[in-house]
Amino acid sequence: MLFKQQALLRQKLFVLGSLAIGSLLYLVARVGSLDRLQPLCPIDSRFGPRGQDEIPLRALQFKRGLLHEFRKGNATKEQIRLHNLVQQLPKAIIIGVRKGGTRALLEMLNLHPAVVKASQEIHFFDNDENYAKGIEWYRKKMPFSYPHQITIEKSPAYFITEEVPERIYKMNSSIKLLIIVREPTTRAISDYTQVLEGKERKNKTYYKFEKLAIDPNTCEVNTKYKAVRTSIYTKHLERWLKYFPIEQFHIVDGDRLITEPLPELQLVEKFLNLPPRISQYNLYFNATRGFYCLRFNIVFNKCLAGSKGRIHPEVDTSVITKLRKFFHPFNQKFYQITGRTFKWP
Ligand code: A3P
Repeated sequence: MLFKQQALLRQKLFVLGSLAIGSLLYLVARVGSLDRLQPLCPIDSRFGPRGQDEIPLRALQFKRGLLHEFRKGNATKEQIRLHNLVQQLPKAIIIGVRKGGTRALLEMLNLHPAVVKASQEIHFFDNDENYAKGIEWYRKKMPFSYPHQITIEKSPAYFITEEVPERIYKMNSSIKLLIIVREPTTRAISDYTQVLEGKERKNKTYYKFEKLAIDPNTCEVNTKYKAVRTSIYTKHLERWLKYFPIEQFHIVDGDRLITEPLPELQLVEKFLNLPPRISQYNLYFNATRGFYCLRFNIVFNKCLAGSKGRIHPEVDTSVITKLRKFFHPFNQKFYQITGRTFKWP
């Protein structure tokens, strides 16, 4: 009898304890997200009068996954009306560079309560078939957001595709353009690694990087190789500058985004006229992944997919030296045009 009573008491204590821990966790999670509930301003106007620019409480829940379906573009008419949601054309686009860290940049910017990302690469401006579908098709591809939030999309092929600057200009001549770059030789090897992995997945063989990057006839750098051409950043940027002034671009240091993401993100917040909301709390180093991962709140965090952060193959040092020498003058020009200098060799 006594034993039964004790067991009953233990059971009651367990239930009460679980309830207390649950409530405590809930409170901590709420506080973690509430401290980010600050007044926000839209991209084009700096800090407006308090109250006017504030994001309602539900906006954070919306961003943190509660209404995840909305962000994928799935919302009923009733939900759209109830939450006053809109599908907006992007106010900023990450136009490249492929393998520069475009996904990490988009995901990290999405930590900001005023930013809503288009999860997929839309390839509207670089794909003729998509472009022919018209701007409304593009807008419908955008996630739902509150009117005071800004939508950002990324399609790295935009940077190197001939027709894209004019097409984006026709949509919005004052759009903000983000370019994330890495040391050009490392970026080219990363580009090669991605293609190599694709071939291996299909059980196909592929050339060594050295064979593709160096012309066997001249022993010079093979400028016909796409991974090399893409890394000549200044050549591509010059085409863009025929349509947009340099002030409309912001260059992100992709190498620094890997090792020290916060200061790079703070520069982007500034460029987009967003109040600083991304903090060190939102970024934590995951030793297993070897990269920074994202923390939205105490319960929701994520790392990028395994396809980001591949191990690069060993490349002959003489080829690396040759490539670095080749990129050097282009890099100097790039620094000069952009006003941002990197310690690239
Ligand atoms: P590697 O795979 O060569 O390491 P993109 O998204 O433009 O394809 O760029 C991929 C690169 O993003 C990766 O190249 C990786 O180094 C870099 N990157 C930057 N920050 C990262 C992060 N937090 N997690 C994973 N990869 C990151």
